[in-house]
Amino acid sequence: MKENGLQTNGPIGVFDSGYGGLTILDKIRAQMPEYDYLYLGDNARTPYGPRSFEVVYEFTLQAVKKLFELGCPLVILACNTASAKALRTIQQNDLPTIDPTRRVLGVIRPTAECIGTLTESRHVGILATSGTIKSESYLMEVYKLFPDVKVTGEACPMWVPLVENNEYASEGADYFLKKHIHQILEKDPDIDTLILGCTHYPLLIEKIRQFTPSHIRIVPQGEYVAHSLRDYLNRHPEMDSRCTKNGTCRFLTTESTSKFEESASIFLRMDEMKVESITLE
Ligand code: DGL
Repeated sequence: MKENGLQTNGPIGVFDSGYGGLTILDKIRAQMPEYDYLYLGDNARTPYGPRSFEVVYEFTLQAVKKLFELGCPLVILACNTASAKALRTIQQNDLPTIDPTRRVLGVIRPTAECIGTLTESRHVGILATSGTIKSESYLMEVYKLFPDVKVTGEACPMWVPLVENNEYASEGADYFLKKHIHQILEKDPDIDTLILGCTHYPLLIEKIRQFTPSHIRIVPQGEYVAHSLRDYLNRHPEMDSRCTKNGTCRFLTTESTSKFEESASIFLRMDEMKVESITLE
């Protein structure tokens, strides 16, 4: 079916600045294998973390439009930085003119929703990119839901480049991991829960565990996002019926396909990946 020249039924779009969103896609597919997915990584322009609000918004909008053009009725911004800096504007200002029947969802709200049940001390730390921390999105979302929880943020600007460059298991990486874990626990020694507020960080989880006192819970967000998406589709049958279900998964990258295939295999175990190179504008 087509409306305004655009396909109205299709795969669920999953977007990230690079490979990080694959950690979210992995959990979503584990919970909902029957759906079709179209992943888009803006690998040529990653990282988004240090970029301005305007640029992250512009790049994210381009990606959303591309996924709509390719038939996605629903797009998940599987990127905290894009969710923090672009989601609200896209939902409020752009969707009504592009296509009010399509939806764009982020990862910060579903993650914030789980926080209240995870922390006993009511002191939570958020490890994320500079962009996400500066936006104060986690602070605001958690406050709305759990005003008694104290949230402390720590920007870890080197962590995404370490992952994107496959250097995350090196000794050099250890230095940057220890530095930020130490700094956040110094800011608030009562933290009992550390949220990985960047979709790249699950790749660092073993090291983060190793450098964090054992009583502190380390929380990646993938399963919460997947659970929240399933719940959303249950509550919105009109959207669910537009999401096609043949169990397929395709990948788009703004970089070369060979580079994507090689690096993506670190994030996602799949026998064969169908990758296509595209440009965003
Ligand atoms: N994966 C993105 C996130 O969750 C950040 C990566 C970047 O800096 O581009 O924030």
